[in-house]
Amino acid sequence: MAKILVATEKPFAKPAINGIREITEKEGYELSLLEKYTDKSELLKAVSGVEALIVRSDKVDREVIEAGGNLKIVVRAGAGYDNVDLEAASEKGIVVMNTPGQNSNAVAELATGMMVYSARNMFNGSAGTELYGKKVGIHGYGNVGKHINRIAKGFGMEVYTYHPRVEKRVIEGEGVIPVDSIEELYSTCQYISLNIPAREENLKAVGHKLLSAMPANGTLVNTARKEVIDEEGLLRVMEERNDIKYLSDIEPDCKGQMSEKFPGRYFFTPKKMGAQTAEANINAGIAAAKQIAGYLKDGDTTFRVNK
Ligand code: 3PG
Repeated sequence: MAKILVATEKPFAKPAINGIREITEKEGYELSLLEKYTDKSELLKAVSGVEALIVRSDKVDREVIEAGGNLKIVVRAGAGYDNVDLEAASEKGIVVMNTPGQNSNAVAELATGMMVYSARNMFNGSAGTELYGKKVGIHGYGNVGKHINRIAKGFGMEVYTYHPRVEKRVIEGEGVIPVDSIEELYSTCQYISLNIPAREENLKAVGHKLLSAMPANGTLVNTARKEVIDEEGLLRVMEERNDIKYLSDIEPDCKGQMSEKFPGRYFFTPKKMGAQTAEANINAGIAAAKQIAGYLKDGDTTFRVNK
């Protein structure tokens, strides 16, 4: 009987666990849960002896991989898998998967909600502005970007993106206006939604150059990762231009300087909560359980992200 561990420092909503349990029981697997753990040693202990591991943003580094001597598969229930050491997993022949698209509507709703929050001066009671007729640029047009496009259209926003690998006519086919460069995206749009993965090439990708090109009252909304921001550049722009706002679904390292110098112009969720809805938890959790069953039973590697 294969053992499956769900290790989530930030737990899934209960219905998601019920769904995962239903699938694993149907397959005859043994399910164990490690939730809200505060120390890595708990994860190291729990992972020993299990064949499959489901995580969220939980760090699955080399030490965790080594501790999971029986591991065959790790599924990151979500999109970004920068928390998993793919190389260490591959060395041990462990398959790593994500569950793309399953939580993207939740993230898109939060990103758009943050735009409203910014436009209404962080709900401080003063006269704000509306999103209607404003331009939003989606930096990283993937599953989340597609949902943002749909939602932003509902607000009457003009949606732009830049994608070097997707033909313009495909972008236009989605009702999105393509621009010729990332610089043009930032200089065109008052609102930018950041939805790029924290891959090597994207680290510190957004800094002074792009942000200082933004139109008046520019708002950057980051529901991706803090690592894609060049915080030094961000702080410089915030200093130079008092019309720029930064809202992020993850506290930056420069949080202290932000709160000291730029009150009213930033907002950070206390804990990453873009995908923290019952629906997203159910979708991603159940997809993860099904992918594990598909792999253990039939060798299905459809959503594999490591070589
Ligand atoms: C993702 O990459 O799927 C999102 O950032 C959500 O991450 P979480 O599962 O840690 O909330």
